[in-house]
Amino acid sequence: MKKVLIDCDPGIDDALALALAAGSPSLDVVGITTVGGNVDLSLTTANALALREFLEMGNVPVTPGSAGALLRETVRATRVHGATGLGGVVLPTPQMGPSDGHAVDFIVDTLKAAPGEITLVAVGPLTNIALAVRREPRVVEWARELVIMGGSFTRGNHNPAAEFNMLADPEAAAIVFGAGWTVRMLGLDVTLSAMVTSDVLDRMWPLGKLAELLVPAAQFYGMVTADGGPAIHDACAVAYVLDPSLFTCVPATVNVETAGLYTRGMTVTDFKVSEQDANALVATSIDVKGFWELVLGAYERLAGR
Ligand code: BDR
Ligand code: CA
Repeated sequence: MKKVLIDCDPGIDDALALALAAGSPSLDVVGITTVGGNVDLSLTTANALALREFLEMGNVPVTPGSAGALLRETVRATRVHGATGLGGVVLPTPQMGPSDGHAVDFIVDTLKAAPGEITLVAVGPLTNIALAVRREPRVVEWARELVIMGGSFTRGNHNPAAEFNMLADPEAAAIVFGAGWTVRMLGLDVTLSAMVTSDVLDRMWPLGKLAELLVPAAQFYGMVTADGGPAIHDACAVAYVLDPSLFTCVPATVNVETAGLYTRGMTVTDFKVSEQDANALVATSIDVKGFWELVLGAYERLAGR
């Protein structure tokens, strides 16, 4: 059983990533923390609470974190995720509320209590993770791994240079990449291949109640992204934890541009480094068929099929 703590900003693809985690018995989700990102923190937290119950994740704690970026004005992705963050999907009102306390303390305390055991999976802006590093630098040693969805070595999506999670808090991303651990970076270079095709949709339709989340969410996402369809980026980070062999990963040094006039949030990636000098393992290719077998298998399991 792999223990994961998921920091997220649901978000349509965050929701589909949580569904992958919920349907994977080899994962033990020890906590969900939220960050302002795709939509405001109040909404990402409300969505995480609703998803926890809809996906039958038991009483895994949901702890709210940072509302905005460390230094910058807030950037949101409501155009892509809709005003509520989940497209047109309306989930049942949850019974349970959030945990007391702040996500940053939760991250520090949870990693401290089980050093070397818990993988941090971050699929939103890296504000909470950067603050955890600043508050307690030993989280870098305590985390088993840090896996992020973010960045790219080829392109952006929010603008030509920057991927959304990096652009939303570039200073936080720079802190995280500079913290001394090896960041597993699942960027647009691979996540844009994780596209919900009509064949994938055909396997989602029969999933009963779960289909009521998956299908409209994916369809909404597909209508508004300019990338040729709905790529469920964040699920790639969870898939990496479940089966890293689905991805080719190459050591690199990643520096996050924080000052550029046109390139703020760009992840400048240098592959010409030795493994010892690298600060990241960057995914460069994905086994798309294997990815969907893993994801759809988990969704089918969750739906009881
Ligand atoms: C990332 O940005 C967000 O809009 C998505 O949830 C994902 O984490 C993709 O660039
Ligand atoms: Ca996200």
